[in-house]
Amino acid sequence: MSASIETTPQNAPAPKPADTRGLAGQTAGDTTICSVNQTQLIYRGYEIADLAEHASFEEVAYLLLIGEKPDAAQAKAFRQELAGMREISPDIAAALAHVVKGNPETHPMSVLRTGVSLLSHSDPECEDNSPEAELRKAKRLLAKIPTLIGACQAALDGRELPANDPSLSHAAYLMLMLTGKTPDELATRIMDVSLVLYAEHDFNASTFTCRVIASTESDLHSAICGGIGALKGPLHGGANEMAMEMLKEIDRDVAAGGTTVSEWMTAAFESKRKLMGFGHRVYKNGDHRAGILRAWGLKYAEQLGPEAKKWFDLGDEVQGIMLDQKNIHPNVDFPCGMTYFVMGIPVPQYTPIFVASRVVGWSAHVMEQHANNRIIRPLANYTGAALRNWNG
Ligand code: SDX
Repeated sequence: MSASIETTPQNAPAPKPADTRGLAGQTAGDTTICSVNQTQLIYRGYEIADLAEHASFEEVAYLLLIGEKPDAAQAKAFRQELAGMREISPDIAAALAHVVKGNPETHPMSVLRTGVSLLSHSDPECEDNSPEAELRKAKRLLAKIPTLIGACQAALDGRELPANDPSLSHAAYLMLMLTGKTPDELATRIMDVSLVLYAEHDFNASTFTCRVIASTESDLHSAICGGIGALKGPLHGGANEMAMEMLKEIDRDVAAGGTTVSEWMTAAFESKRKLMGFGHRVYKNGDHRAGILRAWGLKYAEQLGPEAKKWFDLGDEVQGIMLDQKNIHPNVDFPCGMTYFVMGIPVPQYTPIFVASRVVGWSAHVMEQHANNRIIRPLANYTGAALRNWNG
C-alpha cells in the first residue's frame, strides 16, 4: 500500500511565490548587538523604551560599542573623552565650506560623506583594523561627526562654526552645531532620545553595507562612508526629510483649496505614490520607536503653541488614513520629521543627525564583522542571455 501524498488539486491556482527581492525574509548572519522583531527592539539585551527613558545617548553608545552598560564613573569618563575629541582641523572645515559655497545644492549627507573621508587621511590609525584601534577610531568619529555637520550648516548659514563647549552632551553639542545656539533643556532631552532611538537596528541597509565593506578587510572610515551613502536614500534614512516635505506639501495643497487631506491621500494611493515615513521591512504592526518620538515631539510642539502643534494634528490625520486604508504603520522617520521641524532644525540636516547616532551601530557592526570575518559574497541567479558567439 502506498503512503498518501498531499497533492495540489488540478484546478487550484498555483501559490504566489514569495517575493524575495531585496533579500526579504532572509537571515544574513548572526549578531549579538541588536534584535529587531515584531514585539521588541533590543540593544544588547535592553529594550528600547527602557533605554529611551533611563539612558543617555552616550551611555547607549558605550553599551553598543563596548558591550556592557557603563557604571557612573565609566559613563562620566566616556562622555568627557568624547567631548574632548570634537575638534576637526581648520583645513577640513574650510574644505567643507568650500564645497558648500561652490555647490549650495549639494546635499548635507554628501558633504558629511566627504567630511568622514577627509577625516580618514589624518586619523593615525586609519589602516589599523585591530579591535583596540577600531574602538578608538569609532570614538573619534562619533565625537567629530557633529562638528562636520556644523561646518556644513555654518557655511550654509554664513556664520562662524561655534567653538566647542565640552560641558555639553553629544545631543546639546549637535544642536549647537545645527542652529548656532545652545538648546534649552527640553530640546536637548528630545534630541538625546532621538539619538538613542536611531543608534542601532541590526541588518538594515546601511549597516549591512558597512558589514560588506568591513568583510573585505577594508577600514572603518571606508565602511562609514559607505553607510552614509546607503542611509542617504529616501527609502532608508532620507525618509525623515521626505516625510516632513510630504507634510508641507499636503499642508500647502490643502491651504490652496481644492483638496482635503483625505482626497490628497486617495490621489496618492491611486498614483501608487510611496508615502514617506510609512512601512517597514521588518515591522508590520508598527515601529517601536515611532510612538516614543511622537510623544516627545508633541510635548515640544504643545509648548510652542498651535502653529507648531498643527504639524502633529496633520501627521495624526495622515497616519489615521494610512492605517485605515492601507494598514501600514508609520516608522520612526515619520514623527522624526515633525519633531525636528518644530525644534527649528533645517530639513536637509535630518539625515545627517541620523548619522550622528547610527555611526555607533555601524562601528559596533564593523568591529563584530572583523572579529569573526569571512568575506560577504552571495551567489547571483543568472537570468541573462543564453550562451552566444561574439563572431555570430
Ligand atoms: C528606515 O530596515 C531598517 O531597519 C531601516 C530603519 C533603521 O533604523 O535602520 O528602520 C530606518 O529606513 C525606516 C524606513 C524609511 N523609509 C520610508 O519611510 C520610505 C517609505 N517606505 C517604503 O518605501 C517601504 O515601506 C520600505 C522601503 C521601508 C520597506 O520596503 P519593503 O519591505 O520592500 O516593502 P513591503 O514589501 O513591506 O511593502 C508591501 C506593500 C507594497 O505594496 P504591494 O506592491 O504589495 O501592492 O506595501 C506597500 C508596498 O508598495 N507599501 C507602501 C509603503 N510602504 C509599503 N505603500 C505606500 N507607501 C509606503 N510607505
